[in-house]
Amino acid sequence: MLNRIKEIATTLAPRLVEIRRHIHSHPELSGQEYQTAAFVAGVLSSSGLHVEEGVGKTGVIGELQGTQHSEKVLAIRTDMDALPIQERSGLEYASRIEGVMHACGHDVHSTVGLGTAMVLSQVAGELGGKVRFLFQPAEEIAQGANWMIKDGVMNHVAAVLGVHVFPSIPAGSIGIRYGALTAAADDLEIIIIGESGHGARPHEAIDAIWIASQVITALQQAISRTQNPLRPVVLSIGKINGGRAANVIADKVELLGTVRSLHPETRDKLPSWIENIVANVCNSYGAKYQVNYRQGVPSVQNDYALTQLLQSSAEEAWTSERVQVLPEPSLGAEDFSVYLEHAPGSMFRLGVGYKDRIINHPLHHPQFEVDESAIITGVVTLAYAVYKYWQLK
Ligand code: NI
Repeated sequence: MLNRIKEIATTLAPRLVEIRRHIHSHPELSGQEYQTAAFVAGVLSSSGLHVEEGVGKTGVIGELQGTQHSEKVLAIRTDMDALPIQERSGLEYASRIEGVMHACGHDVHSTVGLGTAMVLSQVAGELGGKVRFLFQPAEEIAQGANWMIKDGVMNHVAAVLGVHVFPSIPAGSIGIRYGALTAAADDLEIIIIGESGHGARPHEAIDAIWIASQVITALQQAISRTQNPLRPVVLSIGKINGGRAANVIADKVELLGTVRSLHPETRDKLPSWIENIVANVCNSYGAKYQVNYRQGVPSVQNDYALTQLLQSSAEEAWTSERVQVLPEPSLGAEDFSVYLEHAPGSMFRLGVGYKDRIINHPLHHPQFEVDESAIITGVVTLAYAVYKYWQLK
């Protein structure tokens, strides 16, 4: 079966590059993936899949019925949205849309999802069970997975597999990771309310800017002294707003930040831990405060057995030299984790780096590029993993 999958994928390779370039040159922002969704639905239909559009707002699902008529489903999740970045790659198939770019490789993910569906549709007679392809919108704003799940895409799903490109792994190789792959990402807003006054007479005012600086310092120091250093927490304040004039003491400062963590127990304690520190600093100097902590996406925790399935599938397909077991998670975020609240799953990293380049630009860079030979690596790995999943059941 592996050889057949490889043969079919190799035959499809030129078409898949065309598909990827089409999606790449027509990027759409989160929640606006209308053209991409229509294009994806068209390819799925012409490969004989049962297709539903408008799932999770602008998402698409395609289903392939295997030979067993059990209710259980194996889901393959890929995302379709682009970023508000002006492309500077200089490629002939660069973005044709001003200020919008596939700089996170979601064009490759969609193509790998389509390629896997196209390959498996040709061996459906030997596929043990049902496969549901989820083409998700709005990953970059961490909303798409929720929209899809609300529309029932996880019904009867026994396991879910996902893929994300990675420029620091060379094309032809993949990275797998046992346990945590990405971090939980939460939003933080802190409002500090002091009292305005003349810049020359600070004792008659409550300086919200000075107190905000104390709050930031206290939070950063408290991470190092009160949080378990083996259970990372990253708190970054990315935006500060406050003040009216050079000689007027500010009465209000607003801080916006992101909070990253890997362990659910740590994450659960963060809102009250942050609020206590803010309260202590503000109370010391007579300021009022408000802390708004909003939980975003959880950490992606890869399932052991499904990660093993990905590893063994990739090693059989490409030899073990081309499969890296990643020693560290990333503190980036990925809403694949939301599906994992409904079924076990595993996401692998697809190497897309050019082997002969010194610099492969990182994700979200205006010159981000992928070595397109990686598409076949992704398709064969996923298609074979799906086949093996049903063989093992
Ligand atoms: Ni991404």
